[in-house]
Amino acid sequence: MAESMSGEQDSGVAGRFVLVAGATSASGLAVTRALASAGARVVAVGHDAGKLERLAGDVPGIRTDVCDLTDEAAVRGLAERLHGTAERVDGVIHLVGGWRGGGGLAGQSEVDYRFLERSFTALRLVSRAFDDDLRASTGGRLAIVSSAAVARPLAGGANYAAVKAASEAWTRAVAQGFTKNAKDAGTPLSAAAVAFRVKSLEGLEDTLAGAVVGLWAQDAASLNDTVIALD
Ligand SMILES: NC(=O)c1ccc[n+]([C@@H]2O[C@H](COP(=O)([O-])OP(=O)(O)OC[C@H]3O[C@@H](n4cnc5c(N)ncnc54)[C@H](OP(=O)(O)O)[C@@H]3O)[C@@H](O)[C@H]2O)c1
Repeated sequence: MAESMSGEQDSGVAGRFVLVAGATSASGLAVTRALASAGARVVAVGHDAGKLERLAGDVPGIRTDVCDLTDEAAVRGLAERLHGTAERVDGVIHLVGGWRGGGGLAGQSEVDYRFLERSFTALRLVSRAFDDDLRASTGGRLAIVSSAAVARPLAGGANYAAVKAASEAWTRAVAQGFTKNAKDAGTPLSAAAVAFRVKSLEGLEDTLAGAVVGLWAQDAASLNDTVIALD
């Protein structure tokens, strides 16, 4: 647990170091702002320097880092930069996404699949790079935003549903790793990996942001390996 100024144990997000991966969309802005308002130290990561600069203008006090999260060497560099300043992350909020689809099964092109797969690639890379941090934290949290399409895949969104299903499976594997780590060490579980599910984020950006902040208000044991519907 983070320690408050009064010396009391604080199980909230205040003081936590949280990495928002893919932070420059509307939902990234809402999540970054909510985390910073709640007292978290935020590093907002994106691949567009101009958008990150605007985000830093909108949410003063955050740190930003330009990184292509689908590039393994670049993600390793990001981890080295953060660890080089003696920082260990307490949270990874994965927001790299995007949607392409339509046209039934015949419309599920390879080009669109490769575009959508970037989200899963970024999740694999960033979660691996910071897994040790999350396990070592007194309140490690990994969250992804998945889709209602996983529960009801449609032919016209088969590529998208498949990528989101893979992302949920990966997140569950991370969760199992957290559980095993705590069990092997004989310590209570302090880390949790969760998937939020939503049909559309439009208009629900602040709901997502509140749910992200709330991850640190809940017990890791009750959160870990869960799917949380946002709508
Ligand atoms: N939007 C919805 O209705 C909806 C519904 C269900 C689930 N979700 C999921 O919710 C999450 C957030 O959604 P969103 O609509 O905000 O996602 P988004 O539009 O894909 O935005 C995610 C952010 O990731 C950045 N990004 C993309 N590729 C990157 C890379 N290679 N390296 C670093 N940053 C990169 C984007 O920057 P650029 O804009 O500069 O590329 C953007 O800031 C996603 O995982 C999405 O799949 C969204």
